[in-house]
Amino acid sequence: MLALALVLWAAPSSALDRGEYLYTLHCSGCHVRDGSGSTEGRIPRLAGQIGHFLKLPEGRRFVLQVPGVMNSGLGNEDVEKLMNWMVPHFAGASLDRTFVPFTVDEIATARKQRPADIFAVRRGIAADLRKGGAVVDEY
Ligand code: HEC
Repeated sequence: MLALALVLWAAPSSALDRGEYLYTLHCSGCHVRDGSGSTEGRIPRLAGQIGHFLKLPEGRRFVLQVPGVMNSGLGNEDVEKLMNWMVPHFAGASLDRTFVPFTVDEIATARKQRPADIFAVRRGIAADLRKGGAVVDEY
């Protein structure tokens, strides 16, 4: 945490894209600055994987509905900036070239429709993606 505080102190928010700043502050403590996550901590990697979820409408909704995003305290406008920075930044080859940016309305709708069992939703989406040939980690 000290290291993160120093990074934020050394890089004033104006020097960072707002989405990158929000990621650093709200997500990188678990998902790590480079999006690699932690096998030991059971934190899924975003790097090289997050883009697969956007191949299915329910996967696109799922990445907005995870507790890390919905319980972050961020409003829909900030979630939009964060996700539109984060997904292209970490997805690599997992993202189709036609990335359609998230909208504030889409985030508001996803927030109203949060599933009771996010793990079951993730398992179903991962199974469908694997049928399509995508490599999606268990965690
Ligand atoms: C306290 C640790 C923690 C924080 C902070 C956190 N996450 Fe997560 N995240 C997790 C864990 C654990 C999972 C897997 C379980 C789950 O879905 O909650 C996860 C899952 C995800 C997933 C789904 C990935 C997959 O392969 O299923 C996405 C996308 C995600 N987080 C994005 C974010 C974003 C964006 C933020 C910051 C706003 C964030 N998370 C903050 C721990 C965290």
